[in-house]
Amino acid sequence: MFSVNEHYLDIKQSYIFTEIAARVRKFSEEHPDKKVIRMGIGDVTLPLAKTVVEALVKASQEMGVKETFHGYGPEQGYDFLRERISEYYASMGVTLQDGEVFVSDGAKSDVANITDLFGNDNVVLICDPVYPVYVDTNRMLGRTIKFLQGDESNGFLPMPPSFHGDIIYLCSPNNPTGAVYDRAQLKAWVDYAKAEGAIILFDAAYESFIEDPSLPRSIFEIDGAKDCAIEFCSLSKTAGFTGTRCGYTVVPKGIEVTAKNGKTLNLNAMWMRRQTTKFNGVPYIIQRGAEAVFTPEGLKEIRENIQYYKQNAKILADCFTELGIPFTGGINSPYIWLKCPDGMDSWAFFDLLLNGAAVVGTPGAGFGDAGEGYFRLTAFSDRENTLEAVERIKALLKK
Ligand code: MLT
Repeated sequence: MFSVNEHYLDIKQSYIFTEIAARVRKFSEEHPDKKVIRMGIGDVTLPLAKTVVEALVKASQEMGVKETFHGYGPEQGYDFLRERISEYYASMGVTLQDGEVFVSDGAKSDVANITDLFGNDNVVLICDPVYPVYVDTNRMLGRTIKFLQGDESNGFLPMPPSFHGDIIYLCSPNNPTGAVYDRAQLKAWVDYAKAEGAIILFDAAYESFIEDPSLPRSIFEIDGAKDCAIEFCSLSKTAGFTGTRCGYTVVPKGIEVTAKNGKTLNLNAMWMRRQTTKFNGVPYIIQRGAEAVFTPEGLKEIRENIQYYKQNAKILADCFTELGIPFTGGINSPYIWLKCPDGMDSWAFFDLLLNGAAVVGTPGAGFGDAGEGYFRLTAFSDRENTLEAVERIKALLKK
């Protein structure tokens, strides 16, 4: 009999959002009359921006004409999009070299696939609570993970530990807590990574929700980060691409490691080798749509959508303030991270909200042990549903 990767025994049987979807499906089958309001997975509800749709339509038409048809494209993305992304970074004061941006089908895939570049003997540092993909993809490889606890005492922003780590996952604005590292905190992480010879894998998927100019939107805004960090970003939440799929990863050209045989391996070259071998690129049509996001008109339109979601976040935040339930997030983030009332555990609170208000959120325990006792709601619903959810939650929880 063939053998399998038994490390799959070390992860939960199903992915958190798959588990939630199954419970909601069961609830809807049992209560067909109830309108369920979904604030679980961070999926957007506003349609794509007009400028993006026009670009998608135009590119689709090009694909139907021999002279403008596109077959296989460059696995790392077309230059027309890579250049726009570099300009976007330049607007944050970050200079990227040609060849440092890699276009992908979203941050989730790249965050998972980047594990290909590193050995299994690394000590991996992961904040807890956190986006479960970091943990599960490393567990699938049997890697040693050390967790750094986020809680109210550190504002859910773990800082460098006193022990060694090789690979560090950071997510800011954080999924699920909505907490954002400031410059001094990220500088401390960069200094730690350089002192330890570690690499930071920085997930910036929610950067576009940061409005406070004092907060960094990219790790590369921090001095020295280009020596020790890779950054992942996504158009999913920035521009409503959850179903359209497009993201990007920045791998600086200067990060090199000496292999056991004395040869030098360059992370940028390794990622290029990995992507050209295992990935065939994002469709031309989608990359044209993504290019339109970065035009002045596209940026204006997507920023209006982000403001709409941020207003939803405020409506949720006001609700929990009124109820006297402590929470974080909701300001530079689309997530509200609240403490389950009355010391409830997070799945019990999930069941209470689902059965008592037909509102779906995400139990904190799904983001790690330190998430137990907390609950995440997203601001990505439409306004009508957000307002209705707030009314239902108040009716259920008001004492
Ligand atoms: C989430 O709800 O945490 C995210 O939508 C999941 C993802 O981006 O993959």
